[in-house]
Amino acid sequence: MGEYKIPGQLQEFVTDNTIVVRSPGRINLIGEHTDYNEGFVLPAAIDKAVYVTIEKIEGAKLYLHSIDFNESAEVELADIKPVFGHWSTYILGVVDQFLQKGQTVPGFKLGIYGNVPLGAGLSSSAAIECAVAFALNELLQSGFSRKELALIAQAAEHKYAGVKCGIMDQFASLFGKKDHVIRLDCRSLEYEYFPLELGEYEIVLFDTMVKHTLASSEYNIRRSQCEEGVMLIGQNYPSVHSLRDATVEMVNECIGEFETAHRRCKFVVEENIRLQEGCTDLLNGNVEAFGKKMFATHEGLSKEYEVSCKELDYLVSYVKNNPDVIGARMMGGGFGGCTINIIQKDAVEGLVSKLTEAYAQNMGRELKYYLVSIEDGTTIIKS
Ligand code: GLA
Repeated sequence: MGEYKIPGQLQEFVTDNTIVVRSPGRINLIGEHTDYNEGFVLPAAIDKAVYVTIEKIEGAKLYLHSIDFNESAEVELADIKPVFGHWSTYILGVVDQFLQKGQTVPGFKLGIYGNVPLGAGLSSSAAIECAVAFALNELLQSGFSRKELALIAQAAEHKYAGVKCGIMDQFASLFGKKDHVIRLDCRSLEYEYFPLELGEYEIVLFDTMVKHTLASSEYNIRRSQCEEGVMLIGQNYPSVHSLRDATVEMVNECIGEFETAHRRCKFVVEENIRLQEGCTDLLNGNVEAFGKKMFATHEGLSKEYEVSCKELDYLVSYVKNNPDVIGARMMGGGFGGCTINIIQKDAVEGLVSKLTEAYAQNMGRELKYYLVSIEDGTTIIKS
């Protein structure tokens, strides 16, 4: 701690009484769409983060200011409700959760600034929710644990953003650890840190620059398709309460005739297996074997779970036969955002320049890329 600084953009909001919190975005190495199926995920917090300043004031009003949108919002505490599509909704959603939990929330001034690219699949919304939850917890001395804060942040996303997300993003933002990935059991919320040692390789994200407009509606549909599958399997196997408990054989036997639900559920069950085996690969230092599983995950997300898009597919297929790229796949909810790639360090520069040109030519868009480092989760940088 101590190494994270208050960004210059927020300095004007900081007085002696201001609390400043930093909460990062996340990547996920493998285990996609498994979290809300009570499976496993393997995320890590990154060096792109959201920063929040908060200070108590007299009265029962919230004064919110977003540096990124250069916009202010004033809200009466008694009048808090979702403002779907607006940056303030993520903040208000968290305040609402604190109120629902019986906390007395005073008026406050809050400033927010972030450098997590929006809509890129790096969980900027979870970073906002976690930063605000952590800041309020400190301001009110509520004493919620990090786990409780993750659940508060997730509930805010459900109710104030309308996305029935799993727990991965909020958990990763709050629990990240420098240079480690988190193997999280999304059923018990037990977790384990693994050092991420990639040797001669590094992680590079390619941003399609496609904003995922379909993401929230299709996301909720995928979730209910999985629930439908569980219901069907449960008729024959009452001990199955989520896809976590199911095997591929059960999926084939019980959902075989429901084509769409079958494809969705099969993907999730196989993705959980890939993740478990992938963790063994990483522990054995077999990054190449791990990389192959990332390509398999992409194939499944694209063909079976159907949450990819032509730009994501293009980026993955472009690198697929390149010996310097040992793994690549789309990351996060889908329908846009980034691919995550494991690339030989010396080859990154050359690949980026070729791919940028090819992407512009074939997809008609500018490609962005990010070299990310793995950082600590939510921290107070000034109290
Ligand atoms: C989004 C959600 C997460 C998770 C991923 C897919 O990022 O917020 O909970 O479901 O999609 O793995």
